[in-house]
This record gives sequence, structure tokens and C-alpha cells, in this order.
Amino acid sequence: MSPGVAELLLQRLEREEPPGGLCSLEAAAALGLDHQTLVGAVKSLQALGEVIEAEPRAARRWELSAEGLSVLRDGSPEVRLFRSLPEGGLPQPEAMKLPGGSVGFNKAMANKWVRLEKGGPGGARVLRAVPEVQDTVQQSLQRVQRGEAEELPERERNELKRRKLLLEVTLKSYWIRKGSAFSTAVTRAETELTPEMIATGSWRDLPFKPYNFQARGLPPHCGRLHPLLRVRSLLRGAFLEMGFTEMPTDRFVESSFWNFDALFQPQQHPARDQHDTFFLQDPAEAPVLPAGYTAKVKKVHSQGGYGSQGYKYEWRLEEARKNLLRTHTTASSARALYQLAKQEKFSPVKYFSIDRVFRNESLDATHLAEFHQVEGVVADRGLTLGHLMGILRQFFSKLGLTQLRFKPAYNPYTEPSMEVFSYHEGLKKWVEVGNSGIFRPELLLPMGLPENVTVIAWGLSLERPTMIKYGINNIRELVGHRVDLQMVYDSPLCRLDA
Ligand code: PHE
Repeated sequence: MSPGVAELLLQRLEREEPPGGLCSLEAAAALGLDHQTLVGAVKSLQALGEVIEAEPRAARRWELSAEGLSVLRDGSPEVRLFRSLPEGGLPQPEAMKLPGGSVGFNKAMANKWVRLEKGGPGGARVLRAVPEVQDTVQQSLQRVQRGEAEELPERERNELKRRKLLLEVTLKSYWIRKGSAFSTAVTRAETELTPEMIATGSWRDLPFKPYNFQARGLPPHCGRLHPLLRVRSLLRGAFLEMGFTEMPTDRFVESSFWNFDALFQPQQHPARDQHDTFFLQDPAEAPVLPAGYTAKVKKVHSQGGYGSQGYKYEWRLEEARKNLLRTHTTASSARALYQLAKQEKFSPVKYFSIDRVFRNESLDATHLAEFHQVEGVVADRGLTLGHLMGILRQFFSKLGLTQLRFKPAYNPYTEPSMEVFSYHEGLKKWVEVGNSGIFRPELLLPMGLPENVTVIAWGLSLERPTMIKYGINNIRELVGHRVDLQMVYDSPLCRLDA
């Protein structure tokens, strides 16, 4: 608000024009101001205390619609039709084409200004039924235009409203009068209590602006979690509620050994190709691998054992030493299971991890060379596929996904393996939400886990459910330099089912 507006308003009140107070709408018009600006001045004067009294009012105003304006100019449809009807009348279809059209015809019929003569040779004819008519509709609208809308009989006004010629607009305004502490010289109230005011005691005599508890307040500007982190915390919550412990996943660089060999993935497996995996040049090799265990892994690959015939090829340590960027978090699960096997007495565990993995993939709208995996691992005696299905149902229902389907699949390290699908209500289709299986004995027994221990596991990506949830079609809008921070700010809390 410009400071001048409040003063102008006070001066008008001082002169008592008009006596008894002012309507803010009229005052704004008289001062040549926008009404909102004047209302701003009224509010700030109110905040000073008793300088003015302002009583809110809802003013009703009548305005002509665009159609009302055309009636004002050209006459009502019924009168236009009546006047353009020739002396001998017209066949009905032609009369409908006259100025005024079907609306005019219907109204003129209802007013009994015209009549239909049926049974003639050319069908029904429209004829005048009275010698002359008055355009009362146009006359009423002229009165509205002169500001006399309130003087029209209510019935007539309602009819014009019903015909959408007249619009009722409510305007919020104020009735303004002098207050008990009226003055044209407004002293601005203090908004802050300063140390000086306290030290000098000047605060005693200063007017302070009262608190406005009705003020809307600015939305607090605080940090927001990126959608990926929101989904991550939802998933982590689901695991923690089910009593899972988080595995350490702090190795982006892994040896081929833990990423592939320990997981009974043969050294010629296509996934070990440069095209699928990022290998490191420096340091190119892992310096230490657990010696005894490595020998057992070598044996199960090349000769078999534990009831398996192995892959029957020459397993090479140099291949296992090759460093890479881990292609899945199952490498961390292998490390965690190896640690578990070292315990003197086996006890059941439930582990999970959520972290980043890397794949040398061609980039497109849904694939980047790095993404996040979510993984759950349960080790206990006598676990079956039924347990895996049950725990998957429990896990996914915590995320709001209750309809699940399982499809047989293949992983080198699990047998049997299953892809998990969930029915998505929003997309109205089944979408793949994860991969799962029972770890092979060729993986668990060389580690030294007891023979009757079964390990069930499942994995999913973090990006996919996030993109589905937040309706993001291009992964570059979710991850990378093209991310719009406003998207992060506007993203709602996460629930996967909706
Ligand atoms: N590692 C698998 C993948 O990369 C996911 C998985 C984890 C499958 C655990 C089965 C068991 O897709």
C-alpha cells in the first residue's frame, strides 16, 4: 500500500463526505483507486487501533451479461421475431430463421404475441396474434444500466437472471466511519521492540502494532526429501517393521569374486562382459580374497560338490580378482552371509540393504548406468518357497501392494527363482516389482553354512516404483542435472498403491 492512500481516505472522512461514513467501493471510485488498494489502506488503518471503524459488507451488484448487452442494443429475441414477421405470416421453419430465432419464437408464443395456424397446404404457419408489442425486457435492461436494478420488481429481475441476461455479483466492501481515536495524521505503529526502546524506556509511550493472529503466514521454507529418498525411507520402514537389520553396503568397488564367483555365476557368464559391467583400470585387481573360501568356490565351479556337478570349466583366480563397480547389491548379501557362516553357532537372520549399483547399459528414458537396489535376505533352517511367497506378500502389502503374482524366472544364484508382479490400480495393469529366489547350495555350502539352512532373498530397484508413484516417465527428470528442484518441493508423501 502506498502511504498516500491511507491519508487520502482519512482526509475524506475528516470532511465527512458523505456524512455518516463511506462505502469503500464509492470511496475507491471517488479517489480514482483500485478497490483492493483502498481495502489495503483500510486494513492497515484498522491495525492502528481506533483510528477508523470499518464494517465489512457484502454489496450486491447487477451486471448485464454479454447476451444482456446485445438485447440492450438490438432488442429482445421475441420482439425482434415479432417485428420481422411479415403481414401474412411465414411457414414455421422459415419463421425460426428470422432474427430472434427459436428463442424468440418460443417466447413470443408464450406471450401469445404470435399463433400457429395448422393444417394449411405448406404446413403450420406463424402469424401475428396482436397488432403491436412493447419490449419490456429491453426496457428493464435499460433501467439496470442506469443503476436502477434494485428498483425492478423482484419477479422481473429473477426472470432476467434466469434468462442469463442479468448477473448478480457480490462485492466484499467496507462501511468506513471515524473511530474514537480518529486523526488525519497517522503515526505508524511500531512493529518491533528494540533493545534501545527497553534501555531508554521509550516503549512505554510508543504505539505498537497488535499481532494479527488471522494472518495466513508464509509456508515455511524447509528442506524436502527427493522422491527417491522418500521411497527409500518407505521401504526401509517396511523392512525395519518386519525386524530386518541393515547390511553394510559401503563398497561401490567390488571384486568380481564377491559380485559373481561367490554367487556361483560362471566366469564365462555374459553379464561379466565389458558391455554389461564397468571394470576398473586402477586398481584393476583386488589384493586379498579369503584364501580357504576362494578354493572352495573354485572347486564348486570347476568340479562341483555338495551334490552339484558344477560348471566343469577351468576357474581362474585372475578373473575373480578383477575389480568392478558392483552390478548388484547381492554382492553385499554374499559378504554378509559369509560373515554369518563364520559364527560358531548359526542363528537365523533377516537382512536388508538399499544402495547404489552400476551397469554398463545403453541409456534411455528408463535406464541410467547407475541406480539403486533394494534387497531382502532371510536365513533360517527349513525355509521353503512358501515362506518366500509369504514374506514377499507381507513386505509388499506394507507398501500398499496387495495383489501379487509370481512367475518362474532364472538367476545363476537362486533356484527356484521368481519374478514378482503387482497389479497397479493407477496404471490398471500388472507391473514387475521384483525378482526373488532361494539361494543355491553351491553358494551357501562353500561359505560354511549348515546344510539345513535355507536362504531366501528378493530384490527390486528403487527407481522403478518411484517413477510409477510420481508419474515420472523420463529417469533424467528424477536423477541427474536436469532434475527440477520444484518437482522435489511439490512431490507429495509416498504411498505406493495410489
Ligand atoms: N540381484 C538380482 C538383480 O540384480 C535381484 C535378486 C536378489 C534376485 C536376490 C534374487 C535374489 O536383479
